[in-house]
Amino acid sequence: MKISIIGAGNVGATCANDIINFNLADELVLLDVKEGVTEGKALDLWQTSSINQFETFVRGVTDDYEATKDSDVAVITAGIPRKPGMSRDDLIGINAEIVQNATRQIIKYSPDCKIIIVSNPLDVMTYAALKAAGDKPSVEIFGMAGILDAARYKAFIAQELNVSPVSVHAILMGGHGDTMVPLPRYTTISSVPVTELLSKEKLDTIIERTKYGGGELVKLMGTSAWYAPGAAVAQMVSAIVKNSRRLFPVSAYLQGEYGLDDLYLGVPVILARHGIQQIIELQLNDEELALVHKSAESVKSMLEVLK
Ligand code: NAI
Ligand code: 2OP
Repeated sequence: MKISIIGAGNVGATCANDIINFNLADELVLLDVKEGVTEGKALDLWQTSSINQFETFVRGVTDDYEATKDSDVAVITAGIPRKPGMSRDDLIGINAEIVQNATRQIIKYSPDCKIIIVSNPLDVMTYAALKAAGDKPSVEIFGMAGILDAARYKAFIAQELNVSPVSVHAILMGGHGDTMVPLPRYTTISSVPVTELLSKEKLDTIIERTKYGGGELVKLMGTSAWYAPGAAVAQMVSAIVKNSRRLFPVSAYLQGEYGLDDLYLGVPVILARHGIQQIIELQLNDEELALVHKSAESVKSMLEVLK
């Protein structure tokens, strides 16, 4: 197995660290435009191998896509942060160009590669990648956000109930932004419905905090998070490499599911070796479906900038 990570910044380097510690691959390539830093980070990671007992060889390269040849999975975290004076639309344009170029280059050297997009705005960048991917099937290109957002939701619930986070199970849908839709009806503590353990008021507070979970961290750190995003990417890579058919919320290309068409949105999927094996259509009630559609509208308005 070979894994390539495009963008060796905070999220890219962190997910590389998680992936090698899972011992998932023979080789991991870190690619960035920052000469020296990329090679240095890769060397530093590789030098943890005898301490942490993994065998994945880590290699860093500066913008050399030939080094990614025959990758099984590629993760695109490349992008620039929003700078003073830059509009959201400017940012979409610049990051879309970066993500689309990376997608084309990855496919040139690894046509069968599964591609996980991380760069923001997530659902829009994943759509941009698909448009750059020629005739590559949409089940092989998807975005990471739902595992992260659900992990934040689960962490808040575990803390409130003083239970193990491992016992909290939840599904969350929609776009990666403040219109995301945590679903209390599909949230349990080892099969016990969360609604039996938490008041509606407490749950609503947790849902609001989850929706702004990324922003809470930006406020604290002056930049966006990387530990939980990196871990979430590694979990998706693991499901693909091990063909484990795990059910996760993933940003997937919709073609009629949930009454939505031609956009990427967070939905439950089964993830396996060949990518998205199945999109699960939950029996949402009217209120839940309306929230998912509202979130889709918000993603669609950003897609207009791309088109
Ligand atoms: P970062 O700024 O630390 O890393 C981005 C890296 O991309 C930099 O090292 C930069 O040199 C590199 N880069 C820029 N242009 C490139 C190009 N053309 N080719 C290759 N590399 C290039 O940012 P961080 O924190 O790692 O975040 C990366 C992206 O992931 C951002 O867009 C961020 O908003 C997004 N993000 C998404 C999450 C999600 O849930 N989907 C969660 C957290 C971050
Ligand atoms: C996050 O949710 C900002 O997408 C980034 O942490």
